[in-house]
Amino acid sequence: MLKVLTGVCSKVGATLSKRSVQTCSVLQHDNLFVHRDTPEDNPGINFEFSSENQKRVEAILAIYPEGHKRAAMIPLLDLAQRQHGWLPISAMHKVAEILNLPNMRVYEVATFYTMFMRKPTGKYHVQVCTTTPCMLRGSDKILDTIKKELCIGVGETSEDKQWTLSEVECLGACVNAPMVQINDDYYEDLTEKTTKEILDEIKAGKKPAPGPKNGRFAAEPIGEPTSLKEPPPGPGFGVRKDL
Ligand code: FES
Repeated sequence: MLKVLTGVCSKVGATLSKRSVQTCSVLQHDNLFVHRDTPEDNPGINFEFSSENQKRVEAILAIYPEGHKRAAMIPLLDLAQRQHGWLPISAMHKVAEILNLPNMRVYEVATFYTMFMRKPTGKYHVQVCTTTPCMLRGSDKILDTIKKELCIGVGETSEDKQWTLSEVECLGACVNAPMVQINDDYYEDLTEKTTKEILDEIKAGKKPAPGPKNGRFAAEPIGEPTSLKEPPPGPGFGVRKDL
């Protein structure tokens, strides 16, 4: 028994000696859930919806019946974030005031959903998916390209406040992996080259077309269909004659 254990330990030791210690970058959901007052984010800074957005607030509230207005919380927080560029605590207080709720009810939602940015965020928020399907299709290279092109790391904002880079979990476009989200748009089927082209276009003030970058229209097979090419055999499964 001792011999077996010694053998296992020496094998593990040999493996460990060959592998470097792995560390993880800070993911968006690792952000501190506790608010700390800062000069740009404290309850003393007033937040009001613009007159245009005030009309949107009323339209959103009108969707929900009396007694269920609190269901408008996420759309209102989203609206506040779009107006301000990120979600300061005073905007959360404004939403609580509109919905007649304790501030805590809004904090609970704003800290749970990672799409709410509670720190100053660049004009362009680049979210790189590095979950398994994207990782297997080369998201590490995409992330490295973006870091190099923007000269910032994950969780950082560029000095000119133009870019914020986040590493995120699956964004639901795995079939078009690897992909990134920039503000509201998805860019899919990326390579290092197409990623750089997208960033260059944005830097030049253009809006690159979202979607797949390998010629696909959506999530169809590349080239021609690979399955369901013929009607299935057997009675009752043929093509309808009347069509
Ligand atoms: S794993 Fe990247 S979009 Fe799903």
